[in-house]
Amino acid sequence: MNNAVTGFSKLSKEEKINWIANEYFSTPTEAIALLKNYWNSDEKTQQLHDEFIENTITNFYIPLGIAPNFLINGKYSTIPMAIEESSVVAAASKTAKFWSTRGGFKATVINTEKIGQVHFIYNGDVSKLNLFFAQTKAVFFTETESITKNMQKRGGGILDIVLNDKTDLLPNYFQLHATFETKDSMGANFINSCLEQFAKTLKEEASLYELFSETEKDIHVVMSILSNYVPNCIVRAEVSCPIEELKEKHIHNPQEFAEKFVQAVQIAEVEPYRSVTHNKGIMNGIDAVVLATGNDFRAVEAGIHAYAARNGKYSSLSHAKIENGIFKFWLEIPLALGTIGGLTTLHPLVKFSLEMLKKPSAQELMQIVAVAGLAQNFAALRSLTTTGIQEGHMKMHLNNIINQFEANDKERVLIRKHFKHNVVSHSAVVDFIENLRK
Ligand code: MEV
Repeated sequence: MNNAVTGFSKLSKEEKINWIANEYFSTPTEAIALLKNYWNSDEKTQQLHDEFIENTITNFYIPLGIAPNFLINGKYSTIPMAIEESSVVAAASKTAKFWSTRGGFKATVINTEKIGQVHFIYNGDVSKLNLFFAQTKAVFFTETESITKNMQKRGGGILDIVLNDKTDLLPNYFQLHATFETKDSMGANFINSCLEQFAKTLKEEASLYELFSETEKDIHVVMSILSNYVPNCIVRAEVSCPIEELKEKHIHNPQEFAEKFVQAVQIAEVEPYRSVTHNKGIMNGIDAVVLATGNDFRAVEAGIHAYAARNGKYSSLSHAKIENGIFKFWLEIPLALGTIGGLTTLHPLVKFSLEMLKKPSAQELMQIVAVAGLAQNFAALRSLTTTGIQEGHMKMHLNNIINQFEANDKERVLIRKHFKHNVVSHSAVVDFIENLRK
């Protein structure tokens, strides 16, 4: 049995590592050597990473790949993708190339509104609360002026605050529902600071409101927090081309391909078991770019999946149709992203990624991310409706199997040569390696 530890966060990094190694590993020196092997040789860079979180013991690498040839709204971009899944970057690159000769991707930001709420309990006459809010609403704006000043200079700020009666859901539950424009920042700190000030103002103003009884004056704020559900912060990405232009290596009959593709999307629209996997494929592209550009992929994931279920049933994020001989494929997703603040000025590789994307505004990044998602979805559906997913996937996975068996250089050449023309499966590769080594 392992021992509990007290005051762990106060130990030095070295002490933490020693404790972990001795507590959990049969060969502590090897465990320590492994951790140190992943430290950055540049002390300053390592210190930066150490300080991102608490209790850092080493770095956990994820490859940063790039997918070139993305023609978006008439301009070429090379997209950075931080992801460990073998086939994702290859699929993105292939799809980018494919659409670059068919008009490219079009992307449009539909709106950019962010949301935050103060959740509170009010025990009393609802009409009095409504009157109180109507009379004090302006105070919420003036009391947050010191927080909103800079944001207003950048063209953002608080858009509106409304009082919502939620007592049909929970007894005495109300909320201040505020909307914000945060321009190029994701805005989490700005929104949360405004909300915490709203909460203070709410309590103070209520305690002084003459029409309230003593119970009514005693408003209980439960919490103040932004929402990661942003259904009015939507970006659309789309591709389209005449059906006959879809023809290429694996698409011998473009009409048949387009029809089957549309059917595959329709299945994802109506069948949640499929929608989830379909959307997971979209998230392969989205998360990879979100991570590489220093944004919060958990927030993006949560918001997008909620949006996929907005009509009461989980459904596809993308849609497709054939209209007058034109194949059309598109998606609309909520994306709250930032290109200033947070990790964007701190993490050297995030700075690199943003510079490679020509320092995009938040709206431009929304477009790029949505396109990466659509491209990934196109690649997955193209494989699924033609060759099947395993052919491409296993080709990319071959490297992982080779590494797992620690193949030497000579073996690597022979394995790659053999599987250029043979079906890759885990057992086929293992058999081949075992035969080589006999
Ligand atoms: C794998 O990471 C993603 C796919 O399963 C997506 C899909 O099925 O559409 C290939």
